[in-house]
Amino acid sequence: MKKVTISTLLQLKQKGEKIAALTAYDASFAKLFDEQFIDVMLIGDSLGMVLKGDDDTLSVSVNDLAYHTACVRKGTDRAFVISDMPFMSYATPELAYANAAKLMANGANMVKLEGGEWLTSTISGLVERGIPVCGHLGLTPQSVHVFGGFKVQGRENEQAQKILDAAIKLEKAGIQLLVLECIPSSVAKLISEALTIPVIGIGAGVGTDGQILVMHDMFGISANYMPKFSKNYLLETNDMRAAVAAYIEDVKASRFPGPEHSFE
Ligand code: KIV
Repeated sequence: MKKVTISTLLQLKQKGEKIAALTAYDASFAKLFDEQFIDVMLIGDSLGMVLKGDDDTLSVSVNDLAYHTACVRKGTDRAFVISDMPFMSYATPELAYANAAKLMANGANMVKLEGGEWLTSTISGLVERGIPVCGHLGLTPQSVHVFGGFKVQGRENEQAQKILDAAIKLEKAGIQLLVLECIPSSVAKLISEALTIPVIGIGAGVGTDGQILVMHDMFGISANYMPKFSKNYLLETNDMRAAVAAYIEDVKASRFPGPEHSFE
């Protein structure tokens, strides 16, 4: 089976084919998702909320991410595997290098960092040292207490322009993939069109180059809360494999997300 690489993802964007991604945290689900031909799996720091039951992602450690990355790696033959760098693990470039190296050594193909312009030198330093980087803009959950809650970002023109400017700067610094979370569909589409690299959205409308969901949201089993931008695929399929297949099919056919899962 041909492995998905960053070149595969770039080719999908160039051909106008959508990228389907899910979070994963263990070998069994990784295998199930991989067998349905998911393109990308993210070991997200969302594990703080969906595995540990916290209200935010801030207590997640590099060791937590390293452990779950190693688990996912064991269940994965084909998909591209990205690990989140948790809160404060990339506060300085030196911290970022050491912590990213640990995640790569545990099986990640790429690491994901939340934030804008302040990260450009860290990103170029990581890339120069052989570590591929995914950016994350919009509603960046590690900054939830700065935002005053999990709120849609980029609704005002000035804020939208700031996100676009940051995306361009991060691409110049060397990111090879970008996640846009909870921003208006029109802004996400504009950014996806402005960048050469693939852009994966969550709560960012159908105009991005791909979609990602937290696996527990996609199965409709998240403990307390179902975000507006998610869809319970288990409800209509009654089978985990069929649910994942339906999600991937919907993403590839641009049927998901619909306007009811998006923000303006
Ligand atoms: O932590 C996570 O699962 C994420 C996704 C929501 C993109 O960052």
